Amino acid sequence: MNLGTSKSSKYNGVILGIVGLVIVYIITSKKIVIQFPISQWQNKAGDRVKSCNYGVGKWVPENITRPFYSGSKCRRWLSPAMNCNMMPKRKDFSYQWFRWQPDNCHVPDFDHRSFLKRMKNKTIAFVGDSLGRQQFQSLMCMATDGGRLSTKDVGTEYNFVKSKDALVKGSCAYRIRISNTTIVFHGTRTLCEMKPSSDDYMAVHIDRIDPFISQFLHKIHVLVLNTKHHWTPWTMKRDKWVVHVNGSPVKDKKLTTASNARNFAVSSAIHWLDSQLSRHPGLNVFFRSFSPNQFSNGDWNTGTCNNLNPLLHGDRTFSGNSSYDTPAINAITQLPASGVKLLDVTGLSILRDEAHVSKFGIHRYDCLHWCLPGIPDEWNNLLFAQI
Ligand SMILES: *[C@@H]1O[C@H](CO)[C@@H](O)[C@H](O)[C@H]1NC(C)=O
Ligand SMILES: *[C@@H]1O[C@H](CO)[C@@H](O)[C@H](O)[C@H]1NC(C)=O
Ligand SMILES: *[C@@H]1O[C@H](CO)[C@@H](O)[C@H](O)[C@H]1NC(C)=O
Ligand SMILES: *[C@@H]1O[C@H](CO)[C@@H](O)[C@H](O)[C@H]1NC(C)=O
Repeated sequence: MNLGTSKSSKYNGVILGIVGLVIVYIITSKKIVIQFPISQWQNKAGDRVKSCNYGVGKWVPENITRPFYSGSKCRRWLSPAMNCNMMPKRKDFSYQWFRWQPDNCHVPDFDHRSFLKRMKNKTIAFVGDSLGRQQFQSLMCMATDGGRLSTKDVGTEYNFVKSKDALVKGSCAYRIRISNTTIVFHGTRTLCEMKPSSDDYMAVHIDRIDPFISQFLHKIHVLVLNTKHHWTPWTMKRDKWVVHVNGSPVKDKKLTTASNARNFAVSSAIHWLDSQLSRHPGLNVFFRSFSPNQFSNGDWNTGTCNNLNPLLHGDRTFSGNSSYDTPAINAITQLPASGVKLLDVTGLSILRDEAHVSKFGIHRYDCLHWCLPGIPDEWNNLLFAQI
């Protein structure tokens, strides 16, 4: 028995030793084998984060976390002309059940608690046209938990005129009480200084930033700019715009065309803001690329958009270079190390032509503005990932 035991214990010892060696060998060899790919993978992931382009990706069906809020519960913050949930004639809401998934970046779902924590005692301002107002209204719903959280009108802190239409037509600012987070919208068609001059012409100074921005920049932590749809030959003529540079009307006809004047204005706004960043540490500036105008066979008053089927043109933007807003890209890439970021929404929005208000609102057709809840919520989701 004893012998047997001692024999078998010796035997066991040898087996244990061999098993131990094998385990040590497996662990170390695994370490060797695994370590290499892990570090390579980490490097790759690091590179990916740096070069991540939120505009390249695809739309994926998602009916659990989308929409982010209900149009009927969040009526308070939405223009009735774009609150499609409240439109008796709109019956199809399939456009609400998609999420934008960039190929190479992780985008967490917007969560009002984390947003308010990040933006505690801070201010986010949208400056731009009616598409900027849509992004503002969308964020009001998202940040207030679908309209539930209590807010305070603080428009007077930004010299906004008090009016009951301010939310849907003018400029406005509200503070969410629990986190002291301020959300501002300042309406401007151009991002430029515009001064009515004699004979009811409008001097549009394409080399000067809108004075609202220079006056209030010190109060702002996240600034989101946009301009596009008022730069058309038609509106410029109707509203009698006279393009100015260096304080004088521009004689060069090439610079006064709608698209060249817009490019100039976009580029000077981006350059000016970039020059201000060193004086405002902690300021985050985004230029939001343009939102597509999707009228077929015409424009306001003439065109239409009748498609209600999501993703008729595919679910992804072409890869590599998603932005159609070349002037904005160029202005940003010209700067040596621009701190101004592009919030690129153009390509991903072009794929979603069924999500416009269409013929269900107050206009004959509106193929420019989006139903809310809807596409601008995804823009805010991408913004949230980058602040
Ligand atoms: C949500 O999507 C799933 C899978 O696409 C589908 O089976 C389900 O019916 C949808 N639910 C609703 C409420 O639309
Ligand atoms: C909030 O920010 C303001 C300045 O913007 C500052 O005066 C105030 O002390 C801050 N409050 C808290 C609680 O941090
Ligand atoms: C709330 O924010 C405003 C604007 O930044 C600031 O003036 C005020 O002091 C803040 N209130 C508190 C209690 O921190
Ligand atoms: C993106 O497209 C624009 C216009 O077509 C072009 O000028 C630019 O070089 C492209 N950028 C990249 C990174 O491919």
